[in-house]
Amino acid sequence: MSTFSIREAAETDLQHVMQLEQECFAKDAWSRDNMHFELLAHHTYYVVAHEGEQLVGFAGLSKVPGNDQADIQTIAVSPSMRGRGLGKELMLELLSQARKLHASEIFLEVRADNQVAQNLYHGLGFEHIDTRARYYQPDDVDAWVMRLKFATSSIGRESVVLGIETSCDETGVGIVRGNKLLANVISSSMDEQARFGGVVPEIAARAHLEAMKPTLDKALAEANMSINDIDAIAVTNGPGLGGALMVGIGAAKALSVATGKPIYAVNHLVGHVGVDILERGVLQTPTIALLVSGGHTSLLLVRDLLNDVELLGETIDDAAGEAFDKVARLLSLKYPGGPEIDKAAIGGDPKAIRFPRGLTLPKDMEKNRYNFSFSGLKTAVARWVEVADAKGENYNKADVAASFREAVVDVLVSKAIAACLDHNVPRLLLGGGVIANARLRELATERCAANGIELRIPALHLCTDNGAMIATLGAQLIMDGREPSSLNFGAESTLPVTQVQSR
Ligand code: KG4
Ligand code: ZN
Repeated sequence: MSTFSIREAAETDLQHVMQLEQECFAKDAWSRDNMHFELLAHHTYYVVAHEGEQLVGFAGLSKVPGNDQADIQTIAVSPSMRGRGLGKELMLELLSQARKLHASEIFLEVRADNQVAQNLYHGLGFEHIDTRARYYQPDDVDAWVMRLKFATSSIGRESVVLGIETSCDETGVGIVRGNKLLANVISSSMDEQARFGGVVPEIAARAHLEAMKPTLDKALAEANMSINDIDAIAVTNGPGLGGALMVGIGAAKALSVATGKPIYAVNHLVGHVGVDILERGVLQTPTIALLVSGGHTSLLLVRDLLNDVELLGETIDDAAGEAFDKVARLLSLKYPGGPEIDKAAIGGDPKAIRFPRGLTLPKDMEKNRYNFSFSGLKTAVARWVEVADAKGENYNKADVAASFREAVVDVLVSKAIAACLDHNVPRLLLGGGVIANARLRELATERCAANGIELRIPALHLCTDNGAMIATLGAQLIMDGREPSSLNFGAESTLPVTQVQSR
């Protein structure tokens, strides 16, 4: 277990850095002035590691703008910390920064007699390319020059990424090249779930297992590729159903190990937001995102797709799609309920029955301004139908369906618009299967126009759960120079939106 934390160095670290410099390098130590200059220079990037309050390591990189070579200037680890992986963590930090600065290769020098360090650098992909005789004096020791070349051809703007999505009941495999969609194949276990009127986690997990290989093959065929043409693999590791997620993660890890391709574990909800890139080439930010499906109902403030996503609110009970599914069942309609209710509502009067709008009372708008609740609405519909049945009334199903739908859609759109206005964000992006709802689209269009908010609704096959959105998020991480995930990540049912990538 690592107990240290790494951050960028500041001028105030100078004194402690110098103490460690003395401790590690004694007679070869840099002067305080030299170190001061290094820490502050524009062409350098220094990081420090702390364990508790104590500075236990530092490392620095130099990269002159316009030159695509970078140099590791120094790396120091406190003797008490050696053998605990800190050197590697510091190096990974510098390598990631060098990639961000678009370096194509990175150099370092190491004592010819320091085999521990050489092993570390070899492990990170450095090769020994030159020797400087008797470079270290007065010990009279040679220096090895080592170099790491970044794979710019395959890992970069044009990376081909395969995305795997299994967080709910859709098995999705998508393939993108950079911002371009190459394949998007979805296999849904909805028909199997229909018997139960909702998603049964065990059935979903088993269906993913059966669908995984055929869906993958179909996606590769659609992109006209073999698995060897893929540069990286991305997979949803949360939030979602634990067992379902594990099937996708297992498949992705197996592919990564078999092909040697890097793997990226990514956040499902952030994937719904990033999918817009496939249609527009960029994600315009800041944006509010309203994500509504059978599994989630979330309102996000996205200032930056990879670095700054904030959860403003979410449902405190049922998801919006789940409410459609449950009410459909009450009205003896089929599963999935959304489209059935849309059909049943045709010709109905949305004002016929005033169903409750969850969490919209003034007191709720203080504490739960951006949260949703649909279970009260579902109960209200059940009561209403019960009473009508008891009275033997021949009620108009279209009116009930239209009034229920109006209640859901009104709350969703009102809260999304409030989020835009409160945060001064002139954009709203929609995602999730419920976006198929005709009335939701209509009302969102109307109210956005009235408030000067730009509305973005991706094509429906990109709105519902799919692998292309996961591949897209993976591609964005690669373009940003992010390191792949290790193979240690697991399924995280309640992964927060702030965690775009899991390590
Ligand atoms: O995003 P999605 O395909 O993934 C899961 O959550 O699995 O969303 C499916 C959900 C279901 O609950 C379904 O009833 C709902 O989206 N849905 C709709 C409509 N079409 C699908 N809800 C309201 N109106 C629709 N037209
Ligand atoms: Zn989803």
